[in-house]
This record gives sequence, C-alpha cells and structure tokens, in this order.
Amino acid sequence: MRDRIIVAAAMLALAGPLILGPSLAAEPGDPIVAARQASMKEMAAAARAIAEMFDGKRAYEPAAFKAAADNLSARAGALTGEFPQGTLGAPSAAKPEIDQARPEFEALARHISRLADALADKAANPPPGITADMRMTGPPMDGGSLLGKRPGAAEVDPATMPPEHLLHLILQDCTSCHSKFRRKVE
Ligand code: HEC
Repeated sequence: MRDRIIVAAAMLALAGPLILGPSLAAEPGDPIVAARQASMKEMAAAARAIAEMFDGKRAYEPAAFKAAADNLSARAGALTGEFPQGTLGAPSAAKPEIDQARPEFEALARHISRLADALADKAANPPPGITADMRMTGPPMDGGSLLGKRPGAAEVDPATMPPEHLLHLILQDCTSCHSKFRRKVE
C-alpha cells in the first residue's frame, strides 16, 4: 500500500510540471513566431541577393548591395531576442533544445551578427562595380563554422575579410544553427 502511494506521488511529480508548469511550446499563430519566421525569410532574401550578385546571376547594384547587407546585419543582430521561452517547439520549427543550450545558441547568433556587421561596414560605401578586393581569394577559412571549430583555432578578424568571404561564413552559420536548432518541416 505504502509503495503504491510512493509510486503515485512520483508519477504526479513527473506529470505535474507538464500539466501545471509553463508551456515551452508556441501557440498556433503566435505573433513572436510569425515575426521571427518573417525575419528569417528576409535574411534569406538578403543573403541570396548578395550571393547572386557575386555569382553573376543578378546584376550588381551598389544601393541594393548595401541595402541587403544592412538588412542582414539588422536581422542577425535581433536574432537572440526572437526565441523566448514559451515560443519553442511545434508548430514552430524552433527546437525546444534552444532553451537547454542558450549559451551555444546565443554564441551562434553573436557570431553571425559580428560577421554581418563587418559585411555591412564594407558595404557602407559600395563601389560602382564589384572590385577584385571584394572577392574571396581562397576557400572560406576562420576555423570553419562555430560548432565545428577546432578548439583554440584562431579567429580571423572579420574586418580584414573581403565581403564575399564574409558572406560564405555567414551562410555557414545559417546552416550550423539550423542543423542543430531547427526542426525539419515538410
Ligand atoms: C542562431 C540560430 C539561427 C541562425 C544563425 C539562422 N537561423 Fe534561420 N532559423 C532558425 C530557427 C530556430 C528557425 C525556425 C523558426 C521557427 O519556425 O520558429 C529558422 C527558420 C528559418 C527559415 C524558415 C522561416 C519560415 O518561414 O518558417 C529560413 C528561410 C531561415 N531560417 C533562413 C536563415 C538564413 C538565410 C540564415 C543566415 C543568413 C539563418 N536563417 C540564420 C535559427 C537560425
């Protein structure tokens, strides 16, 4: 009898937080989720615009280049605040793991933000055409993505990197964060 009570109490303790505790999941139609998804789409459009200008798939326009870089920098800077508790998990694609790995998530957000700021600085006075010094000269290198980084690998100062190189590192950060913190949705 006593054992049954102890088991029942343990079950209740387990179930309690699920029933009574604050929900970590977003409600359908949560405006915070909608806003960050819209922000992500804008970031994607900005990154694509810059990538296509470098790849020659889209005409390079100094003003459009600058606008896309500014947009990327503003959106990346806002990332950290866009995933508060209570908005993670389905129906959002943001994994609940974000809450258990805040320092890592925020480090990724800071990393991409720093790169995007450097890109925006470079794009502040864009030349009329793409110059050779805007181009990446070798494979992207700063120790690779933040998550796959070798411990202690020196980080190259983003201010010294050409814009095309910065863009590639930014895209690596998108992928790093998504592979860890974004749920695949069909
Ligand atoms: C620090 C983590 C992080 C970084 C960096 C990041 N994302 Fe995301 N992204 C997410 C998460 C988490 C979601 C899921 C959001 C949701 O559904 O609530 C997402 C969703 C998206 C979506 C889908 C939006 C929708 O309509 O549902 C796109 C597109 C996207 N990201 C593009 C990008 C691009 C492009 C970059 C880089 C320039 C980037 N992301 C950088 C975490 C990140």
